[in-house]
Amino acid sequence: MAILGIESLVYGVDDIDRCSRFWNDFGLLEKARGPNGSVFETVSASRVIVRDRADCGVPEWFEGDGGKLVVWGVDTADNLERLVDGLARDREVRRDLDGTAYSATDEGIPFGLRIWNKRPVVSQPDRVNAPGNIQRLNLHRKWRRRAIPKTLSHIVLSTADYVGTYEFYRDRLGFRLSDHSRGLGVFMRADGTNEHHSIFWLNANGPFVKGKPTFQHAAFGVEDIDEVMIGVGRMGERGWFKDLRKAGGGSGAIASPPPSIATSPIRMVARPNTPATRIISTTTGFPVCGSGSSEPPCGPTIGLRSMDRWMIIGTCSSIRMGNRSRNIARKSV
Ligand SMILES: [Fe+2]
Repeated sequence: MAILGIESLVYGVDDIDRCSRFWNDFGLLEKARGPNGSVFETVSASRVIVRDRADCGVPEWFEGDGGKLVVWGVDTADNLERLVDGLARDREVRRDLDGTAYSATDEGIPFGLRIWNKRPVVSQPDRVNAPGNIQRLNLHRKWRRRAIPKTLSHIVLSTADYVGTYEFYRDRLGFRLSDHSRGLGVFMRADGTNEHHSIFWLNANGPFVKGKPTFQHAAFGVEDIDEVMIGVGRMGERGWFKDLRKAGGGSGAIASPPPSIATSPIRMVARPNTPATRIISTTTGFPVCGSGSSEPPCGPTIGLRSMDRWMIIGTCSSIRMGNRSRNIARKSV
């Protein structure tokens, strides 16, 4: 085990105040705020860092606002150095004074590695009733006034070479294949997490995506479907645009503001400042994982479709580990 998940996601944006307000409304805990940006945190200690796009310290690998840099959280110093040594064989690795390492894929998509003290999260989701299956009787539901994202579960990036990028993450960072939607993309998880995926590499040359690498969305985990809906309601109350439409993965509505929340089993998804049209690619029922959805079977998701759009992406009931597509060969895609 080495990489535990997303330690931080750095957003480069034009309007820091607006993006910070979004994350506050979304339910993240604000840890710091200043003229140059803000820092938010989930219960599991993943961070969302908001910076001025022109001064976020990350190469402008795609145009516009959005998640510019993911920093993966590593469990030990030894594992961090092992990963860095491996990367340094054929690419530049820059180090910060705190030991954080920065490098990039062959395509130039940046990432970081940092030792992470990930906090454990214990959830107690409410029981759910269904016709003929009553699990909650004479019990009030948990009363919440807002959603509080527990985890930053995954991000979605598009890449012009999703197979090559998948192989890089597999061979150099130890990520594992969760599922492959042939022609659309690959779901991968860090070796130290049991999330269905930590990253989805979306084929930038596939349907819906216009050929360029870009940030798509981030997904945050909440406790249960009630918390998803509380989050939905609050975002609407706070004036973030809501765009209801059919979502992939089952029952779902999509609405929209800046970033996404998601996890197993319940997710909210957000993506500040990405064009709304890009999100539609994850919600049109394009067949993925054999589930008829571009979202994998992880659970309900609230997603953010643009700086002023957010969404709920369906409910999915189980985790599949992709045994149909364990071996991805270039010739197969
Ligand atoms: Fe997602």
